[in-house]
Amino acid sequence: MTQDGRRLAGRVAVVTGGASGIGLASVHRLAAEGARVVVGDVDQDGGAAAAEAVDGLFVRVDVTDEAQVEALFQAAVDTYGSVDVAFNNAGISPPEDDSILTTGLDAWRRVQEVNLTSVFLCSKHAIGHMRRQGRGSVINTASFVAVMGAATSQVSYTASKGGVLALSRELGVQFAREGIRVNALCPGPVNTPLLRELFAKDPERAARRLVHIPLGRFAEPEEIAAAVAFLASDDSSFMTASSFLVDGGISGAYVTPL
Ligand SMILES: NC(=O)c1ccc[n+]([C@@H]2O[C@H](COP(=O)([O-])OP(=O)(O)OC[C@H]3O[C@@H](n4cnc5c(N)ncnc54)[C@H](O)[C@@H]3O)[C@@H](O)[C@H]2O)c1
Repeated sequence: MTQDGRRLAGRVAVVTGGASGIGLASVHRLAAEGARVVVGDVDQDGGAAAAEAVDGLFVRVDVTDEAQVEALFQAAVDTYGSVDVAFNNAGISPPEDDSILTTGLDAWRRVQEVNLTSVFLCSKHAIGHMRRQGRGSVINTASFVAVMGAATSQVSYTASKGGVLALSRELGVQFAREGIRVNALCPGPVNTPLLRELFAKDPERAARRLVHIPLGRFAEPEEIAAAVAFLASDDSSFMTASSFLVDGGISGAYVTPL
C-alpha cells in the first residue's frame, strides 16, 4: 500500500463489462484505489463514458472474439505498460435462457459463449502478460447460482457460472508459483436497473427471492466493487483458486430472520 492508502497505485486494471452495473462500479473503485483502468465493453457510448470519467482508456471489444480480446490486453500494455489486474466480468442473462424444458440450443450456446468462453479467452490473454511480469490478479465473475440451485432456472447461465468456478480454481492452482492469483467472485443478486425494473413490475417475484437473503436486501454494485478491489490488491495476497462469495448470506442460510 502507498502512504496515501491507495492499494492499487501504479497498477493497471482491465475491466470487461465496465460500461454498466458491477463493472462500472468497479471501474470507479479501482481508479479510486489508484489504478489506471482500461474499460472493455461492446457498448461504445457507455464504455467510452466510463473510461472518460476515470481518465482511463476505452477499448470496444466483444469478449467472445479472440482477436478482439487479445487486442484489449495488448492495448493496456501498449498504453500503460502492464496488465496487473484482469476483472473478467462481462456477462449476460437473456430471457430465452430459462428452464431446460424450454431453452433452445441457440440460447444455451450464446450464454456459454458470452459468460464462459469469454472468461477462457480473457484469462488466457491476461495471463500471457502476467507471466512475463511475474505478477497479476485475475478475478472472474461467477455468481451465487453456481453454488446453489434455483427452481426459477436459467439453465445455461447457471452452468456457465459453474464453469467459471472450475476454470478459475484450476488456473489459480496452475499459476500459483508464478505470482499470478486467480479467484472467482460470486455476487448475490445485485440492485441493477434490470433487476429493479423486473421486480417493480412484479413485487411477488422480488419477495420470493428476498425471503432467502439473511441481510434482507439485494447488494449494491459498490458492495461488489469493494470485493473486487480487495481481490485485485495485495490485501488478498494469500487468496487464490478460491470462490469468493459476496451474497448477503444466501448460501449459508436455512431459516432467515423475520
Ligand atoms: N446483477 C446481478 O444480480 C448479478 C449477480 C451475480 C453475478 N452477476 C454477474 O456479474 C456480471 C456483471 O453483471 P451486471 O449485473 O453488472 O450486468 P450489466 O448488464 O449491468 O453489465 C454487463 C456489461 O457487459 C457488457 N457485455 C455484454 N456482452 C458483452 C460482450 N459480448 N462483450 C463485451 N461486453 C459485453 C454489457 O454491454 C454491459 O456493459 C455478469 O457476469 C453477471 O452474470 C450479476
